[in-house]
Amino acid sequence: MSNIAILEIDGKKYEFPIVKGTENEIAIDIKTLRSVTGGITTLDPGYKNTSSCESEVTFLDGEKGILRYRGYSIEELADKSDFLEVAYLLIFGELPSKEQNEKFHRDIQKTALVDEDVKKILDGFPKTAHPMGVLSALTSALTAFNPKSVNVSSEEDMYKAIVKILGKFPVLAAWTYRKGEGLPLEYGDNSLGYTENFLKMMFALPNERYVSNPVIVEALDKLLILHADHEQNCSTSTVRIVGSSHAGLFASLSAGISALWGPLHGGANQAVIEMLEAIKEDGGDYQKYIEKAKDKDDPFRLMGFGHRVYKNFDPRAKIIKVAAEEVLNDLGIDDPVLDIAKGLAEVALNDEYFKSRNLYPNVDFYSGIIYRALGIPTPMFTVMFALGRLPGWIAQWREMRLRKEPIGRPRQLYVGATERLFVKEENR
Ligand code: CMC
Repeated sequence: MSNIAILEIDGKKYEFPIVKGTENEIAIDIKTLRSVTGGITTLDPGYKNTSSCESEVTFLDGEKGILRYRGYSIEELADKSDFLEVAYLLIFGELPSKEQNEKFHRDIQKTALVDEDVKKILDGFPKTAHPMGVLSALTSALTAFNPKSVNVSSEEDMYKAIVKILGKFPVLAAWTYRKGEGLPLEYGDNSLGYTENFLKMMFALPNERYVSNPVIVEALDKLLILHADHEQNCSTSTVRIVGSSHAGLFASLSAGISALWGPLHGGANQAVIEMLEAIKEDGGDYQKYIEKAKDKDDPFRLMGFGHRVYKNFDPRAKIIKVAAEEVLNDLGIDDPVLDIAKGLAEVALNDEYFKSRNLYPNVDFYSGIIYRALGIPTPMFTVMFALGRLPGWIAQWREMRLRKEPIGRPRQLYVGATERLFVKEENR
């Protein structure tokens, strides 16, 4: 293939370099488009055709169903690694040695206490507040408690900010749950692993000795790995773009949490369970819901189906489907919602509407079923996603700052009113 793309406008030809990624992905580098054409831009709502950056963190091939963090396949990582090791890999680029891993964990633990005054902020929220709103607010509030901005040219400063948020975030996430349940806040136990400690912070009761269940710890750890990064999705792009204004790490992450909350993104895991339960309540007739999803006049969409990038299958969904069945078996749970999910998926996968649009179950289709089996309440599902995605957001934010990317500032094609004269109120 030639390494130049030619654009012809009004008989004038402009040349742009064709650039190739390490996995042979090809992009037309249009950095000079506006300047050489005298102001012409590209129009690409939803950025469906736009590579917003060059990145070394995650490779995804939506057609082939490939997902790799720093070159390692998601299947291998989910099988052989653990969440904290994956976090290190994503953020720093290499798997840690035993010493690096232990130090990373110790450093995270050292920062895991949250200023007691954060509790006052938490107290101000109603018990009914959605945990994602609370989590976003508390993460942003961390900036106020840690006002010194990170010196991104100092690796040490950057490292300190990273371990700090990895330490405090699970505390905040667990507290959002305990607040809603009216439970006393819990500080965890530094003798436990990262995921196990998070579960203790969520579920320990003041009048009972907390005993963790290895099946639950392992299943949650796997889910966190599967959610840890997904290249330039909506929340990650948000984190990068907020950070590109040189806003701090915690403020950028808080914005990412808000982006993740939406039902078309991370909020889909909650929406899936709510949908499956509604189908169950309605007598289990999933065909009716398939028809609703296909009806152009009905805004209903089959939640947990379809993906902007995966047009074949979502490799995370494959792993989670198997894990969901294992967890339910191990815990001896018979969840009728899993049967509805399986039935719905089977019908949809054989339906022309879904087949022709390449709509397959995505990661969120089965993750809610596992979360439910683990005893995690529905409004907390997206918080689990945020906990998993945290290392990815951090890795992408760090990469963006280290690459000294310019402030994110897209253009637009203005289609509003052209200039007109102001009309006084009495004449309108
Ligand atoms: N149910 C029914 N029809 C759908 C669905 C669905 N879930 N998803 C897409 N379609 C149809 C859509 O109506 C359109 O049809 P037509 O071509 O006739 O107009 C076609 O498929 C293409 O859809 P699109 O909206 O242009 O695709 P997109 O790439 O902009 O949207 C999506 C991707 C994930 C937002 C969308 O598939 C969706 O809303 N899915 C349900 C929500 C969901 O499960 N989100 C979680 C995504 S995975 C977790 C994450 O990474 O955030």
